[in-house]
Amino acid sequence: MFNDKKVVFSGVQPSGNLTIGNYLGAIRNFSAFSDEYHCYYCVADMHAITVRQVPADLRKRTYETLALYIACGLDPQKNTLFVQSHVPAHAELGWILDCYTMFGELSRMTQFKDKSAKNADNINAGLFTYPSLMAADILLYQTELVPVGVDQKQHLELCRDIAGRFNQIYGETFVIPEGYITKEGAKIMSLQDPTKKMSKSDSNENAVVRILDSKDDIIRKFKRAVTDSGNEIVHGEDKEGITNLLNIYTRFTGKTLEEAEKEFDGKGYGEFKLAVGETCADALSPVKAEFDKLMADKAYLEAIMADGATEAYKNARRTLSKVKRKLGFTDIKR
Ligand code: TRP
Repeated sequence: MFNDKKVVFSGVQPSGNLTIGNYLGAIRNFSAFSDEYHCYYCVADMHAITVRQVPADLRKRTYETLALYIACGLDPQKNTLFVQSHVPAHAELGWILDCYTMFGELSRMTQFKDKSAKNADNINAGLFTYPSLMAADILLYQTELVPVGVDQKQHLELCRDIAGRFNQIYGETFVIPEGYITKEGAKIMSLQDPTKKMSKSDSNENAVVRILDSKDDIIRKFKRAVTDSGNEIVHGEDKEGITNLLNIYTRFTGKTLEEAEKEFDGKGYGEFKLAVGETCADALSPVKAEFDKLMADKAYLEAIMADGATEAYKNARRTLSKVKRKLGFTDIKR
């Protein structure tokens, strides 16, 4: 640890539009960490190129992801927000950790198996060693806590193993990070198939509500949400659709399930779906307004990126120098 505050680190790829599941279960809650922790949130553009990207889209989504972090409540004065490729220490430590990560370990990563099945014509080395770069992201900052979705749990465990291995060989170098598995999407299900999780990559746009969807789109998607043949607005195992809508409603309003059920007692499904849609759209409207404002001010976003990169590098370089010294790399003054 470089100062008295413990460190939180998380990253998000500048790909795909985040959903209300990401918002309710993760990002919205991240701002609470900043009193107690030094928080780093990075836009993982280097991870993004493990699958083919259109350059102009990648650039645009990098700005968008940063703007979205801020619009969702992460104050750049209280959190270090930065872009991964702006801090070359990530690539440097990533390579070093490649040499301390085993082929067998990487071969067991389920995300690698999934992604290589989906990108059979581009199973590149970066896709394979992706978890070592992610470990570098985390370990550079002596991170204690890593808020991630459950899909990243295996990568985090590998990161802990890599850190432990390095420490064992070279002596105490890295803090071993703990995962903080966010409830991201845990209870937020697809609007079209409420037995499966709402996924940002769902091919059916009606199934997912995105943080930046327009009010009209949000309401339309909720109106079309799949429910069941009954007519009572109560939660229950055989009422997955209604349960999901109630969950979304309570998480946006802070009401309890009982309060929500009482409120909609005797009302029809149509009215209920509209109310959930409106509540969701209204809650997201300030986020979207802030996002639009930020996207119209590239210079501001670039200033945040520059400050973030400077602050991140200041801390990352200490770990990197320590690692290089331990490895036996020579040091020169320039
Ligand atoms: N791999 C993560 C994802 O795809 C993003 C990420 C990159 C990340 N570096 C990280 C998450 C470090 C947590 C910590 O979602």
